[in-house]
Amino acid sequence: MLNRRGFVGFALAMAVGVLACGQGCKGSSNEAVVGAYLSLSGPDSTFGTDTRDGVDLALDEINAKGGVKGKKVKVLYEDDKSTTQEATNKVQQLIDRDNALAILGEVASSRSMAGGLVCNKKHVPMVSPSSTAAEVTRDPKTGILKEYVFRVCFTDDQQGDVAARFVHDTLKKNSVALFYVAQDTYSSGLANTFKTSFEKLGGKIVIDKGYQKGETNFTTYLQEIKGKSPDIIFTPVYYNDMVLIARQAKATDLPGSMFVGGDGWDSSDLIEGAGDLLEGAYFTNHYAPDVPWPNSQKFVASFKAKYHRDPSSLSAQGYDAASLLFDAMGRATELTPEAIKVSLAATANFSGATGSLTIDKDHNANKPIVVVQVKNKKFAYSTQLLSTATN
Ligand code: PHE
Repeated sequence: MLNRRGFVGFALAMAVGVLACGQGCKGSSNEAVVGAYLSLSGPDSTFGTDTRDGVDLALDEINAKGGVKGKKVKVLYEDDKSTTQEATNKVQQLIDRDNALAILGEVASSRSMAGGLVCNKKHVPMVSPSSTAAEVTRDPKTGILKEYVFRVCFTDDQQGDVAARFVHDTLKKNSVALFYVAQDTYSSGLANTFKTSFEKLGGKIVIDKGYQKGETNFTTYLQEIKGKSPDIIFTPVYYNDMVLIARQAKATDLPGSMFVGGDGWDSSDLIEGAGDLLEGAYFTNHYAPDVPWPNSQKFVASFKAKYHRDPSSLSAQGYDAASLLFDAMGRATELTPEAIKVSLAATANFSGATGSLTIDKDHNANKPIVVVQVKNKKFAYSTQLLSTATN
């Protein structure tokens, strides 16, 4: 029973507690709250759900070890429905309503740009698992680094360079058609960096075709491309478009093995929808289940134990983004967004499922890029290359 003095004391302690509890203290004081915004529904839904599976595995592991700084980690998921507008809204909510200490997301570069703007403005660190466009961490106009935005993956400058060298030096092909989504940050950006590197190597771009986002009939474009007789069609688009393109390419008599793509191809939906049609095609990626890296094998085993299937690249990236963030939270001088940002920037040689991760001065993770081949309706590791591009 509380007497009057006891009650006043209790009320005072509560008030002090509330006052001292700034950002990140909402909810139970035994929890460290992290927000995640992902495309859990809409056209890119496997990006979101696969990433969430990886994050959840990292969450199980950190909480089994006692969490961070004695607090259990809680991840609040928000579905941005594969739109940039919702990405902005959800990140705002996670910060203003839920007082998230840090944010995980997004996969698509266009949505990471939207969410990243909010995080940077509100001074809450964000870690993107797999957004590769250069502009995600750096303002394209001013060239200024976004202080609160990080990623655990390589950039499209590096990915485009590796794809170009793979086509030119390994496949020994010299004439390429570019086929991509004209207004999409990721797709057009990657097509562009490929072009620059490929031409530097002496290769020829015989046709450059950007289509409109949302188009579903590609036959006319494909016929036009066929008319130029390229050796390879570089198609850095997301998996959902690639399924349609592969089907219509067959009808146009263009073999699936002519296509080369980027990490946006990574989805079991690509295999289900067009795996047989794309037999022999290659794409650059962050990871493959049979990649010969010791930590990846450990990750694959734990993932399979939890979900009874092979992880996609997105799950591996989600796992790495979350484990690296939790590690940074543990190393931070205190559990505040500011201190977490400082320790994220200082991350060196963190051993992740997709390699050893060091956050560089541009807030990117420099890593080898994996080349994956579609083989017998599966994604198979082919080789790994380091980019010679700097960013
Ligand atoms: N890199 C893509 C982007 O920036 C997203 C992506 C990553 C898609 C990995 C699939 C696999 O938009």
